[in-house]
Amino acid sequence: MCSQSIDVLRFEHYAVAHQLGTQAPRPRLSWTFADVPDNFIQHEYEVEITHHDVDSSASSGPVRHSDKVASSQSVLVPWPSSASDLTSRARASARVRAWGRNSRSSTASASSTVEVPWSEPVVIEAGLLERKEWQAQLVSSPWEYPEDSPQPEELFRKQFALESAGSPDQKKIKAARLYITAQGVYEAEINGKVVGDHFLAPGWTEYRRRLRYQCFDVAELLEQQQGNNTFGVRVAEGWFCGRLGFNGGARCHFGERPALFAQLEITYEDGSRQTVATDDTWEVVKGPTFKAEIYDGEKYDARLEIDGWSGSLVGQPAGQTTSATQAGHQPKWEKVSAKGPLPDTVALIAEEAEPVRRIQTIQPVKHITTPSGRTVVDFGQNLVGYTRIKNIKGLRGDKVALSHAEVMEKDELGTRPLRKADCRDEYILRGDLAGGESWEPRFTFHGYRYVQIDGWPGNNDDLLSSIEAVVCHTDMRKTGEFSCSNAQLNRLHENVQWSMRGNFLSVPTDCPQRDERLGWTGDLAMFSPTATLLYKCTDMIRGWLRDLAVEQARQGGVPPMVIPNVLPKNSVFGSVLPAAIWGDAAVLTPWAVYRATGDAEVLREQYQSMLDWVAAIPRNKTGNTHLWDATLAQLGDWLDPSAPPENPAGAKCDAILVADAFLIHTLDVMAQAAAILSQTDDAAKFQAEAAAARAEFAYEYITAAGRLMSDSQTGYALAIVFDLYPTAKQRQTGCERLVRIVRRNGFRIGTGFAGTPYICEALTRAGRADVAYAMLYCDECPSWLYSVKMGATTIWERYDSMLPDGSVNPGEMTSFNHYALGSVARWMWERAAGLQAAEPGWRRLRVAPIVGGDLTCASARHETPFGPAESSWKVLGDFERGEGKDAGGAREKQRLVMTVVVPPNTTAEVVFPEGPSSREQTSPVELGSGTHEFSVVIDKPGWPVEPIGMFG
Ligand code: BGC
Repeated sequence: MCSQSIDVLRFEHYAVAHQLGTQAPRPRLSWTFADVPDNFIQHEYEVEITHHDVDSSASSGPVRHSDKVASSQSVLVPWPSSASDLTSRARASARVRAWGRNSRSSTASASSTVEVPWSEPVVIEAGLLERKEWQAQLVSSPWEYPEDSPQPEELFRKQFALESAGSPDQKKIKAARLYITAQGVYEAEINGKVVGDHFLAPGWTEYRRRLRYQCFDVAELLEQQQGNNTFGVRVAEGWFCGRLGFNGGARCHFGERPALFAQLEITYEDGSRQTVATDDTWEVVKGPTFKAEIYDGEKYDARLEIDGWSGSLVGQPAGQTTSATQAGHQPKWEKVSAKGPLPDTVALIAEEAEPVRRIQTIQPVKHITTPSGRTVVDFGQNLVGYTRIKNIKGLRGDKVALSHAEVMEKDELGTRPLRKADCRDEYILRGDLAGGESWEPRFTFHGYRYVQIDGWPGNNDDLLSSIEAVVCHTDMRKTGEFSCSNAQLNRLHENVQWSMRGNFLSVPTDCPQRDERLGWTGDLAMFSPTATLLYKCTDMIRGWLRDLAVEQARQGGVPPMVIPNVLPKNSVFGSVLPAAIWGDAAVLTPWAVYRATGDAEVLREQYQSMLDWVAAIPRNKTGNTHLWDATLAQLGDWLDPSAPPENPAGAKCDAILVADAFLIHTLDVMAQAAAILSQTDDAAKFQAEAAAARAEFAYEYITAAGRLMSDSQTGYALAIVFDLYPTAKQRQTGCERLVRIVRRNGFRIGTGFAGTPYICEALTRAGRADVAYAMLYCDECPSWLYSVKMGATTIWERYDSMLPDGSVNPGEMTSFNHYALGSVARWMWERAAGLQAAEPGWRRLRVAPIVGGDLTCASARHETPFGPAESSWKVLGDFERGEGKDAGGAREKQRLVMTVVVPPNTTAEVVFPEGPSSREQTSPVELGSGTHEFSVVIDKPGWPVEPIGMFG
C-alpha cells in the first residue's frame, strides 16, 4: 500500500511549521514529500487555506479557500489567490495535497499519476501588522541614568485582574498573546514563570530604525481562578546601551537607557479583548543583577533578590505590592516614566528569524590547579554561552567569580586575547537556602573553553558536578553533515560547525569572546556560501541584510564595516570607508542566500542596496576607470599567514588586485541578479562593465604569458575561480604557477580571508584536486589541520593563533573562534563528498565526488528545500593493475560504491569519479528522485603528492 505523504509543510522560511506573530500578509508555502515513488515529479497541487475567527468577533466560523494549480513548484508557493490577506492577529491554517508522476516514465497517463493526500494542517497567526494596533507606551525607569557606567538590570511589573475576576460568571480565556520588545534585552515572567525560552531577546538589530518584537502564547500562565496576575519583565542594557566596540568602545550607541514596550492581549470566549500594555501605571525597581554587560559579564547579588516579584499575589487585590527581598531588604518600587508610543521612525517588526536560545549543556572534563594555585575548569570544547552553577552552599555574602577564556597561556587562564573584555561573572550568595543556590546569567555570553573559579565555597570536591556550560546561539536547524574516513578532517569540519554556532548569535559576528563580537561584513561575505550548507541560517542573514541596507542608505551607499554599526565615526573603520569584500557583502551575501534557497525575493528586497554599493565603489579617475581607485586603503587578503602579528592587512597578495578581482566577481553577480529580476538593461550594463573591468584587470595584472603581477596563492586562486584570464593559454600558465607555488610551499596555506574560500576550488579547476587534497591534509603550520593537531575545537582567526611552541600569537587579532577560514568546509562538501546544488535552491543537484588523499569514504548530506539530499562514496577494495576487463592497466584500481539520494521533485546529474576505468558506468547520468547506488572502478588516486623542494 502506498503511504506517500506531505512530510513537512512550512510558511516562508520559518523554522517550525506552526507560527505565531508573523509579519507576511500572504506567506508563501513550501512542502516536502515522504515515501513517494522514485522519480517523483509533482505536476499539480492544491493549497487550502482556512481563515479562523481569531477575534471571535466573526460569528461565521472558518472560511475556506483553495487553489488547485498545475505546477511543479513545491517550494515558496504563493499564498492562494482566492485567500484573503492575513491582517493583524488573523489566524489561518493551511494544508496541501499534490499529484505527481514518474519523471522517467514515457506515458503520462492518468493511471500513472500518484496522488499525495492532504497534509496535516499547519497554523499561522499574524502579529500586529499595523502600528495603530499597539497601545503600549515605551516605559523606562525614572531615576538618573549615568551614561558612563554600567547599570543594574531593571525589573518592571504590573499587577492586574482578569476581567470579571471573582464573579460567578467569570469569562473564560480563549487565547492570550504577549507582544513584547525592549530597547535593551529582556526576559518576561508572568505569575512567577518565565515566558518562552528566548535568550537575549529581542536580539540585535539597528535599533534606531528596526526593532523586533516577539509574540508568545501565555494563556497557560494566567491565573484564571483568582484573577490576580502579575506581569513582570527584567530589562538590561544589552547591545542597546551597553559598552560595545574595541579600544575601550563606547556605551549608549542606540539610546541612553533601556526601555520596555509590551502588550498582553487576553481574548475571552465571548469575543471581548482585554489589553494590559506598558504605560504609566507600571512600576520599576533595580534588580539583583547589578551589572549585566555583553563584554564584561554579569554580576548578581542574590541578597538583593525580591522573592515573588513577578508572582501572583493570591488572595490580594491586584495592584498591591507585598514582595520584599529576603533578609528584610525592602525594594523601593517606583512609578515608571512613560514616554508615549515608540517613535514612527523605528519600524516594529515581527520576529524575522529564529531567536537565540540555550541549545545544549556541556559538562566539565577536567579540574586544573594552575601554577599560581588558581582553580580552572576545562570544558573540553571552545564554546559560546555561559556557565551555570548548581546547588552550591555557602555563607551569605560569599562571592563566586567565574572568569572565562578560550585558552591557557603559560598554564594560567589566557585572557590577553580578550583585550578589553573582562569576561567575568560574579554571584554573591544569599546563604539561606537549605537546598543550595543555583544561578545562571541572563544577559551576557562568553566565548570560552576554560573557566577560572575564585571564591568557590567549601572545598572543590563538588566543583565538577556543580557547574556546567550552557551553549547559546541563534536556534538554527542543522541542515548538513559531512564525514569521511579521516578523523582529523572530521574534526576540522566539526570545528567549522562550532565556530559557526559560536558566531551566529543574533547577528553573524567575527568572534564571540573579545571586545568585538560585531557583525563584520567581510567575514560573512566570505563564509555565507558555507554557512548556508551547514545550518538553516538564511532568515537570520536576511534580517542582518535589512539592517545593512538601512545603515548603508545613511552612508551614501557604502555599508559600514560592522552591522549594526557601533564603530565611532572618527575611527578608521567607523568613517565611511569603502573597502572591497567588506562592502561587497552587500552583493555577495544576498547572492549566497539566493543560491541556498532559490528565493529571488532576497534579491528583490536587497536590489537597491546592491545597486547602491556598486555605484558607490570609487573607481580610478584616469586609466583603468572600471577598477577600484588604486589609491585607497584596502583590507585585502586579511590575515594571510605571512601578515605580521601587528599588521593583519600585510598580505602577500597585493590588496588592490584582490579588491579588483572581487569587483569583477561582484559585477558578474550583479549581472545575474539583474537578469533574474528581469532588469534586462541593468543586466546588460553590468555585463559590459564586467567585461571592461576584466580587460583592465588583465592589462594591469596579467603578463602576456599568464603570470600574475602578485605571484601568490590568493592571486591565482581568485584569477582562476573568477575567470579573469583573457586566454586559455594564460589561464593554463596561471594554473601551473599556482600548483608550483603550493607544492613549493610544502602544501602549507598562503591565503587569508579572501583567498581561503577559493584556493582548493582553484586547484581543482586547474585539474589538480590531488594538490587541493594535499593542502587539506597538511598539518604543518600554517594549515587547516595544524590547528586540529594543536587541539583546536573551533576555527581560529589566524592559522597560527597558537604558535607551534604552544604560546599564543602576540598579535591583537588572535581569536580562537572566527569562522572565516572555515570556508574550506564547502570544498569538502562539494568536491570531496561531491554534493552540490546545480541550480539555486537545489531543484537540481550535481553529484561529482573527487576521490583523493587516502580517503576510503566521504559523505555529505544536506537538507535541501525539497528534502534530504546525499552523496556518499566508499572504497570497497584495491586491486593491483585491475582485474577482469581492467587487467593489464597501468595503475592500481579501486572499486567504489556510491550512494546518491535525490529528493522528490528534483533531479540530479551524477558525474562519476574520474579515471579511464570508470567505464562500468558512463557519466554523466541523469537521475530522478530516490536512493541510487552505483559501483564504479577508478584509478587509485596517486598519493601522497610530492612537494617541490626549495630549488625545484
Ligand atoms: C575582525 C575581523 C574583521 C576585521 C576587519 C577584526 O577585528 O575580528 O574579523 O573582519 O577586524 O578589520
